[in-house]
Amino acid sequence: MAGKLRKILIIGATSAIASEVARIYASQGHALYLLARDAERLRELVVELEERGADLRGHASGDLDELERNGERVAAAIQVLGSIDVALIAHGYLGDQQRSESSLDEALKILSTNLASPISLLIPLANHFEAQGAGHLAAITSVAGERGRPRNFTYGAAKGGLSRYLEGQRSRLRPRGVVVHNIKLGPVDTPMTANHAKNALFAEKRAVARTIVRALERRRHVTYVPRFWWLIMAIVRVVPESLFQRLGFLSGR
Ligand SMILES: NC(=O)c1ccc[n+]([C@@H]2O[C@H](COP(=O)([O-])OP(=O)(O)OC[C@H]3O[C@@H](n4cnc5c(N)ncnc54)[C@H](OP(=O)(O)O)[C@@H]3O)[C@@H](O)[C@H]2O)c1
Repeated sequence: MAGKLRKILIIGATSAIASEVARIYASQGHALYLLARDAERLRELVVELEERGADLRGHASGDLDELERNGERVAAAIQVLGSIDVALIAHGYLGDQQRSESSLDEALKILSTNLASPISLLIPLANHFEAQGAGHLAAITSVAGERGRPRNFTYGAAKGGLSRYLEGQRSRLRPRGVVVHNIKLGPVDTPMTANHAKNALFAEKRAVARTIVRALERRRHVTYVPRFWWLIMAIVRVVPESLFQRLGFLSGR
């Protein structure tokens, strides 16, 4: 991707991490189309990027849990950009784990925003990229998707499901020259984790955004951010469940 100007769709653009990705792509001169829920914050981002001279071709706001509307949202972006070289799906909802254990509404909201909504966007995007025979299709998932933990297993189930879905799309689209990227984040200091006690494992949003941009340039299929999560999760994945349940730092609340 380096060196060539691209047409880039960022979905969930007002997320702290996605906004940083947008700033990087804007500074590199790529053409952008932004989609986000919060119209006011999206407008602020658009104004900021335009003041920096970004090649901003369009933007739209809407609740991405309105699944039946996401096809037309993607179609509108394709119409404005002409074609899409890079699509990044970044929106997400951590939710309230304990509430999701007694409230079906909360559980379904977590599953909708983190799994059904990305899939409703990936369907038209994957078909666009397949027809085009090129492109980068990326979504942000989480290390929470690798093992079920009492701390966040509803969110983890959605992100883990999305990871599996991306894997399937990757195999489907690889022969057509399309790269499907799964960006697996560890904890990042953003509004999503505002109420979490911070420790040394928390990454900084700008560094995370730089790693995401680099991962797409390098055509990496699965990228742990920061990179050390690859090693941690390689170990965590192979811990037998009987042992996992006895290790409080993994299986505790
Ligand atoms: N921060 C972390 O520790 C962490 C760790 C692993 C993975 N992730 C993932 O990283 C991605 C970016 O999150 P972030 O850390 O940048 O958090 P953030 O700043 O809180 O951003 C979350 C974004 O998702 C949007 N969103 C939520 N529900 C939506 C819906 N129904 N329709 C449209 N947009 C919706 C929010 O929009 P509003 O502004 O309208 O609320 C917000 O812009 C997410 O996919 C998240 O799951 C984050």
